[in-house]
Amino acid sequence: MSTQYSLIGRTAILRLDNPPVNGLGHTTRQGIVQGLHRALDSGDVDAVVLTGREGFFSAGADITEFGTPKTTAEPMLGDVIAALEAADKPVVAAIDGTCFGGGLELALGAHYRVATSTSRIGLPEVNLGLVPGAGGTQRLPRLVGAAVAADMISGGAPRRARELADLPGQRLCDRVVDGDVMAAALELAAEMAAVRPLPRVRDLSVDPGDAAAVSAMRERLARRSRGFLAPAAALALVEKAATIPFEEGLSEERKTFLELMNGEQSAALRHAFFAERAARKVPDVPAGTSARRVDTVAVIGAGTMGGGIAMTFLDAGIPVTVLESSQEALDRGLGIMRGNYQRQVDKGKLTPDGLEQRMALLTPTLDYADVSDSDLIIEAAFEDMDVKRSVFTRLDEVAKPGAILASNTSTLDIDAIAAVTGRPGDVLGMHFFSPANVMKLLEIVRGAKTADDVLVTAMAVGQRIGKTGVVAGVCDGFIGNRMLAKYRDAAMELLRAGATPADIDSAAENFGFAMGPFRTADLAGNDIGWAIRKRRYAEDPGLPRDEIADALCERGRFGQKVGAGWYDYKPGSREALPSPVVDELLASFHTRHGTEPRTFEEDEIVQRLVFALVDEGARILDEGIALRASDIDVVYIAGYGFPRYRGGPMFYADTVGAAQVLSALRRFHGDDGWEPAPLLTRLAEAGTFN
Ligand code: NAI
Repeated sequence: MSTQYSLIGRTAILRLDNPPVNGLGHTTRQGIVQGLHRALDSGDVDAVVLTGREGFFSAGADITEFGTPKTTAEPMLGDVIAALEAADKPVVAAIDGTCFGGGLELALGAHYRVATSTSRIGLPEVNLGLVPGAGGTQRLPRLVGAAVAADMISGGAPRRARELADLPGQRLCDRVVDGDVMAAALELAAEMAAVRPLPRVRDLSVDPGDAAAVSAMRERLARRSRGFLAPAAALALVEKAATIPFEEGLSEERKTFLELMNGEQSAALRHAFFAERAARKVPDVPAGTSARRVDTVAVIGAGTMGGGIAMTFLDAGIPVTVLESSQEALDRGLGIMRGNYQRQVDKGKLTPDGLEQRMALLTPTLDYADVSDSDLIIEAAFEDMDVKRSVFTRLDEVAKPGAILASNTSTLDIDAIAAVTGRPGDVLGMHFFSPANVMKLLEIVRGAKTADDVLVTAMAVGQRIGKTGVVAGVCDGFIGNRMLAKYRDAAMELLRAGATPADIDSAAENFGFAMGPFRTADLAGNDIGWAIRKRRYAEDPGLPRDEIADALCERGRFGQKVGAGWYDYKPGSREALPSPVVDELLASFHTRHGTEPRTFEEDEIVQRLVFALVDEGARILDEGIALRASDIDVVYIAGYGFPRYRGGPMFYADTVGAAQVLSALRRFHGDDGWEPAPLLTRLAEAGTFN
């Protein structure tokens, strides 16, 4: 049974017992209703306490049931809640720990609520592209007011019970306790045993709250949740709670819930949710492989990446030794880290104490002997094979046995780096993204000889420092950057054919990318790619030139940092303004080649960009560089600003259909010699990536 029934004195205890998260699956819902009726029918029972286990009330709906007949099998959650609410004996919800989604809606059906002060209470459905579907949008505002409810439901973030209790006028919990929640609930149940009528949330009216707060939220959502449907839908439902009768509100909520549940966005967001969980598993690593202990970390190089990587570990409370090649570089690196923390303090995101605590965990050094005790050493020196080789040779000499040696290289061969050590099993890639203390993605690059427990450790460490880890095989660019190169090629091809940077960026941004390719390039700096191209031209004089991008850099248009790139920038502003210089540069390209610039529909621009990702993703999947299509989706969502509500490039390709993707790519490439990814051709016959 997934609900336990017991009796303490004259109070019946209904305890949810459906590990791991007390999901409200069908048998649990049945168990609650059966237990409730048993209590109501019994002459020995005066009141009911509904609870979970210590530290876990309920995480809500059982999302593995979504899309199966079980979701709609009776009793549905709304029926269970209605039964609690209609009970003629008092029902007290005793909440400890997580109380999310359907779990909170269930508690809102009780007559009284008691919670431990640290309980986390929230309606996170928007994260799956949904709104609460069992009365949450109508009951929560009746207890906490429209403004707080709108924030909780459209933002999805949980709040602590204590924090909620301290808000003016809130009445979500009748009691918030620091100690034993069951004792408090039993006490309240006994007090209320004879009190009638029983209070029902549905009978309360909504404090419309501060209308200005709600409308400010609408503006904030429009900015922060651009493209997402659920947050605005949630806000509208909360507003309705203040203006229409309860039952009507419930049916509006149901209608919205079903629309969203059957829509593409929720399917994509649920895919992203499951994809992130799937990415934590590596099929060929034996279950139970235990991670090595990581208490101390060393970072080699205190540049852009080394500094950010060190900050990530310091933020997680893990001591870091940073090694540089000169005192000057070390001082500069530490100064930048402190400056970055200081900016967080200035913005109120970090306390001055927090800053000092972090810096106190940091040990700067120039001496390799100081990293000999580190459990994990991450190299972030120059992107140059000779530099990497000499660093890893030194590390092999000094690092203690069992230490993990990682490189943050973005392009170099991990196996070649591992080969200079006498312990290639301890070596792997840990590829962070810039800025490393902010970006969520971590590509964990598994070398040919990387030991299973080393891989498992890197994944566990990634989780500990709040990163989304994805395992990648060794190749130039791994998963993300290898695909990005093709996306950039597609963007440049669009330019050559007549689109402008603004056309391309706005199409990409309207599709939902955080930033279009040219604005991104201006932010990152156009000189970086130019330096790489110049090196390649020198190595291979026959290599075709990237005429437009080279011409841009020859004019010194390196991007935002110099106020000019693919766009113009006014001093101190990030606003990208169309540039007459770039227009002239494009026009002269067409004159030189005798080409007639054509115009593009947004759809075609998006398809050219996204399908280029899909084609390369298919190769990466076929070669085993990515373990699953959904891992590629996670990489693009977590690291490249791909809209989460489209589920990632491979999921998106599935919604379009592989055959359509293939025929569009054939059309775009014409006779330029391109061959489709073999996997794409196979799936076009029959199949999907995910
Ligand atoms: P950077 O040039 O900002 O920093 C490199 C630092 O390493 C410098 O401070 C330098 O003094 C130090 N260094 C060089 N040789 C050293 C040695 N032998 N011993 C100790 N310190 C040494 O470079 P950045 O951008 O931080 O890149 C570092 C690594 O991270 C490269 O492999 C790069 O490909 C990779 N990477 C860079 C990303 C980026 O966006 N910048 C993103 C992901 C990876």
